Amino acid sequence: MPLTIRPETPTDYPGISEVNDLAFGQPAEGKLVEKLRKNPKFVPRLSLVAETEGKIVGHILFFPIIIKSANGKEKETISLAPVSVLPEFQKQGIGGELIKEGLKACRELGYDSVIVLGHPEYYPRFGFEPTVKWGIKDPFGAPEEAFMALELKEGALEGAGGVVEYPEEFNDV
Ligand SMILES: CC(C)(COP(=O)(O)OP(=O)(O)OC[C@H]1O[C@@H](n2cnc3c(N)ncnc32)[C@H](O)[C@@H]1OP(=O)(O)O)[C@@H](O)C(=O)NCCC(=O)NCCS
Repeated sequence: MPLTIRPETPTDYPGISEVNDLAFGQPAEGKLVEKLRKNPKFVPRLSLVAETEGKIVGHILFFPIIIKSANGKEKETISLAPVSVLPEFQKQGIGGELIKEGLKACRELGYDSVIVLGHPEYYPRFGFEPTVKWGIKDPFGAPEEAFMALELKEGALEGAGGVVEYPEEFNDV
């Protein structure tokens, strides 16, 4: 099965919403992507689709966020969310390819770290570790092991302890 991972284009928008709706079994994540696209901080190069035979079968989005320390210091990083693969295409490595290609693109654009809130059994295989290691907290009260980070540059998160601030679009998910 030939698989292409590439940045989204406007003609992909309906396919991306559909992949999110079907993967998550609810419309919240697809709506989140649609709303974030209108946010000035949206980076089109970091909204990637997985395409096979002209069909969008997977999607991943990275969106810039801030870690705010108690003394008001701000550190820019990027969040990985959401990532989705059509149910009938899951467990074939497509999610992994989206994550690897996405991390590569983040590195190329100069991001030095990535934050994810997700399955604690899945993301460590890409190098993610619980953020407690750096004293970084999530604003949602998620289980500690589900809030993870990856340094794309060694030491990037040292001294970056604080609370992550997501754009308000995430509040509806
Ligand atoms: C998570 C997701 C993107 C992975 O895509 P994929 O193409 O199936 O991923 P891969 O084929 O690269 O990897 C499959 C692995 O992911 C694991 N995985 C998938 N969902 C998981 C979950 N909820 N918890 C833990 N592991 C999970 C599978 O167990 C499998 O592990 P294995 O390789 O040991 O068999 C896909 O399952 C999906 O769209 N799920 C619904 C939406 C979702 O939960 N997104 C992530 C939110 S954090």
